[in-house]
Amino acid sequence: MELEQATQAKLQDLERRNEVALQGGGASRVSKHKQGGRLTARERLDILLDPGSFVEMDRFVTHRCTNFGMDDSKVPGDGVITGYGRVNGKLVYAYSQDFTVIGGSMSRTQANKIIKIMDLAVKNGAPVVGLNDSGGARIQEGIESLGGYADIFTRNVMASGVVPQITGIMGPCAGGAVYSPSITDFIFMVKKTSYMFVTGPDVIKTVTHEDVTKEDLGGAITHSQKSGVAHFACEDDKHTLLMIRELLGFLPSNNLDEPPVLPTTDRPDRMCEMLNAYIPDNPKKPYDMLGLITEVVDEHYFLEVHKHYAQNVIVGFARLNGRSVGVVANQPQILAGCLDIEASRKAARFIRLCDSFNIPIVSFVDVPGFLPGTDQEWKGIITHGAKLLYAYAEATVPKITLITRKAYGGAYIVMGSKLLRSDINLAYPTAEIAVMGAEGAVNIIFREKITKASDPVAEKARLIKEYEQKFSNPYVSAELGYTDEVIEPALTRRRLIDSLEMLKNKRDIMPPKKHGNIPL
Ligand code: HXC
Repeated sequence: MELEQATQAKLQDLERRNEVALQGGGASRVSKHKQGGRLTARERLDILLDPGSFVEMDRFVTHRCTNFGMDDSKVPGDGVITGYGRVNGKLVYAYSQDFTVIGGSMSRTQANKIIKIMDLAVKNGAPVVGLNDSGGARIQEGIESLGGYADIFTRNVMASGVVPQITGIMGPCAGGAVYSPSITDFIFMVKKTSYMFVTGPDVIKTVTHEDVTKEDLGGAITHSQKSGVAHFACEDDKHTLLMIRELLGFLPSNNLDEPPVLPTTDRPDRMCEMLNAYIPDNPKKPYDMLGLITEVVDEHYFLEVHKHYAQNVIVGFARLNGRSVGVVANQPQILAGCLDIEASRKAARFIRLCDSFNIPIVSFVDVPGFLPGTDQEWKGIITHGAKLLYAYAEATVPKITLITRKAYGGAYIVMGSKLLRSDINLAYPTAEIAVMGAEGAVNIIFREKITKASDPVAEKARLIKEYEQKFSNPYVSAELGYTDEVIEPALTRRRLIDSLEMLKNKRDIMPPKKHGNIPL
């Protein structure tokens, strides 16, 4: 078909404008940016989203700043690419900051673009993925830029618990800019090329006289191991984006939606024979809880969240007969599986995430208690441990708990016990559900008897044995109905799936209130 001349000119004009926009900050900036294996903002979206699914919005938006000669440096899109696409066929909104355009810095108009897709995401009930790569507030714009950030923070808060929000930190993220990612549900960082901090090394040097590199201060390793700010530390840009896709596969689109169910070839009644010999006879001997989890779940696949942080507790996603579950587990290999401040905070936040998005919680318990010591007490284990208790008790999703070995005292109650509105409590025959370990208990209640005995060592050993026979087993709890079933370990997968199926239509609510006051 022959086009009229004027129309043809308009189409060519559109093509030319598109070409300019696609160049971002220009060839030399793009080539500098790509040194070290970093991808451009558009290449990142191409990997994040299903091929050909991305629809860009606001491609021609430019900033309106006239300070410091800024009117001469306008690039269509203004340093961020925004729009929507699909991940595994499901709608996702995304933005990707373009460092080649004025350092990806946040202008008022860049914020407006991001806000637009966040509002659409909440209205349409789909996740938002933000790929951050920015020098922070656009310095030339001053307060206008700060206003933009504040509007994004507000949207983050409004969207929290309504749609999943995921952040990829793909480059610098400094100053107040870190607070948007930290409100989102998950932070992914790229090793060696991304960093986050409230104040950078130079300011730190001036104020505290500490010498620290950007990497040590706020790199992916630091935040995934020390601070816990980042949930995932990935090898490079591509790995990060593929991991975000992977994670999205476990989440529903919004809080009114159910998590995806994937077909599986792993039989629901598969017996886990190796688990019959998995728990060591010696209660002081550690074992790897991760091995138990992966033995039980579909295709042995477990997506561990916060893998390198507070490793005495394990959290992550798996599937049981195709359904997403959030797994929370003590790790007897680290600190004997004791709960400390970091583990309590890690698990509590994960449980609240699962509860927000209708993901059942399966807990594997082997916990000797809360970690003793002045350090923990003075840093507030009372408050932080209560977070975990609070999160378990308020969660209304199906909650299934399996006690594999130790479940002592307050930590027993906290770790998804029946006493905190958990639905099903299972235990292995090796479970020891008691107020405390036998030795500690005997030391306290029989102190005088032991001291006065003709052979105190033999008397103590006798009393410990007696205590163990009486309390260090699952049967007292089973007699009282606190444990629903004592199972042969080989049956674990089957029973967890039976329980999940049985609880599929669970309805439970909290009393009406504005919001609770979790001990923050
Ligand atoms: C305007 C910026 C910018 C910014 C970078 N650029 N950051 N322009 N505002 N915040 C520009 C640079 O001038 C440069 O332009 C281009 O982006 C690339 O930057 P380089 O410095 O050449 O890149 P690099 O060497 O890789 O260094 C990256 C960087 C550095 C470490 C991020 O640019 C930097 O320190 N930027 C400032 C960081 C900062 O202090 N931001 C404010 C934080 S406070 P040309 O034209 O030369 O290529 C904040 C408050 C938020 O963000 C509060 C929210 C409530």
